[in-house]
Amino acid sequence: MEFDTEDLVSHSTDVLVIGSGIAGLTAALTASGERTVALVTKARIQETNTWYAQGGIAGAVGEADSVELHLADTLVVGQGLCDEDVVRAVVGEAGDALGDLVSMGVPFDRDAGGQRVALAREGGHSLPRVLHSGDSTGAAVQDTLSAILRRAEGVEVFEERFLIDLLTADDRCVGALVFNPDTHLPEVFWADAVVLATGGCGQVFRVTTNPAIATGDGVAAAWRAGAQIADLEFVQFHPTALDNASSPKFLITEALRGEGAYLLDCAEERFMLGVHPLAELAPRDVVSREIEKVMARCERPNVWLDARHLGAEYLKARFPMIWEKCRESGFDLAADLIPVAPAAHYMIGGVRVDIDGRSSLPGLYASGESTASGLHGANRLASNSLLEGLVFSRRIARALLKDAIVPRPSRVTSGDEHRAPAFATLGVRDLIQDTMSNHVGMTRSEDSLARAASVLDGLSGLLGTEFSEASDLELQNLVTMATLIARAAWMRTESRGTHSRIDYPKRDDAAWAGHLLWMRGADPHFEPITHRGGR
Ligand code: SIN
Repeated sequence: MEFDTEDLVSHSTDVLVIGSGIAGLTAALTASGERTVALVTKARIQETNTWYAQGGIAGAVGEADSVELHLADTLVVGQGLCDEDVVRAVVGEAGDALGDLVSMGVPFDRDAGGQRVALAREGGHSLPRVLHSGDSTGAAVQDTLSAILRRAEGVEVFEERFLIDLLTADDRCVGALVFNPDTHLPEVFWADAVVLATGGCGQVFRVTTNPAIATGDGVAAAWRAGAQIADLEFVQFHPTALDNASSPKFLITEALRGEGAYLLDCAEERFMLGVHPLAELAPRDVVSREIEKVMARCERPNVWLDARHLGAEYLKARFPMIWEKCRESGFDLAADLIPVAPAAHYMIGGVRVDIDGRSSLPGLYASGESTASGLHGANRLASNSLLEGLVFSRRIARALLKDAIVPRPSRVTSGDEHRAPAFATLGVRDLIQDTMSNHVGMTRSEDSLARAASVLDGLSGLLGTEFSEASDLELQNLVTMATLIARAAWMRTESRGTHSRIDYPKRDDAAWAGHLLWMRGADPHFEPITHRGGR
């Protein structure tokens, strides 16, 4: 949009954190000891993907576990695209980072004796490794960290503020332009360093577990600012969202299968036996794809989750939120089969960062779901996502102490690029979501991706339009993200991890062992992996 920072209300801080899930809260808290911090978030502080996370946080803290085992499981699930150095750094720091969460008061469940944290098992893990707080782990982490942050000195929190764009000067990020809904005006936040922790973009899909705020704002802004973006073709679908009419879809945690629940087809037979040695606890891409096949064979919109044998008392105590949600939807978890189907859940790609969270744009850092860090490869290991945000934000806080501080400009203005006037955008979000769910979902083909491209190309006019409502700015971000995801999925002519092409059904290491990198104004670039086990 057209602006001149001299005309705007302005704020100044050492570190600007954008987003308030585990990545944003951790970055703000860890940086605040040494620097002034402003945390900007688009809704209330707790309205984040983190808050909705059920299963937990993975960490090799059990007696029989080790960093090497956690590393190995992550690499196997990531199907050749993980960066082994990054995986080692993250799983290696898990014990310390989780210990700090315990010290801060996160109420992780404990074993029967109360001596040790209790560990759950999820898909792709070779043993129980997931710390949890009932079935509301994300909410427990979110509430604990938000409460500490609100009391922290040197941190100012700005809720209900929408990121319009990152501010750049001399090829460096120097802050952000942020929409204030009270005044209906943009404001400028000057900063020595900006940390993007804006989460994913599940809302580009019709069927998703992500809340309405998950519109990829940070990644789209980083793209506009000229940062490198990667791995967008890899979108993870969670196998078991409750199949009812609600939107977004309510997740039914993989930990329920970890405790012994089964998946049944229309003949009420377990269909994962024989498909993978881990059966219902196979990696998520394997389970989701098998469910899709069974749904087609059975001509049904769902399969069944069977937890009846676990007993009412146990289910109610271990999974209270799921118990209640099923009850509200008319199902008794201890007596009924629960209808479940895959739903878009997690964006593996995003802003490309180095092992300390630095993006390719100096001054811009990123952490958590908004990044392509190399941790997840082509398919994320369950419960490694909260861990990623936690560890990367700690690493960023340490990097900020080492990285040079460059003098900021006193004024930035928009270019004089012509922008078309705003118009009514009713129905556009539905169109994007239907297009992406129908044509760029779990299974893709040249034909389906061409259909998506033709719809999304028709929406490209939106990107050159001067909107001033946050909902329209969100829409522009959705178009940007959907277009990049669809283009990346079209380019990668193989199947690997979460990316499945029916016209290229096999993994093709000779051609595709590497990452697709995107930068505004340049052709996409394929970078073969150079590190052990990863890029
Ligand atoms: C779940 O609880 O099943 C989700 C955990 C995750 O997305 O890693």
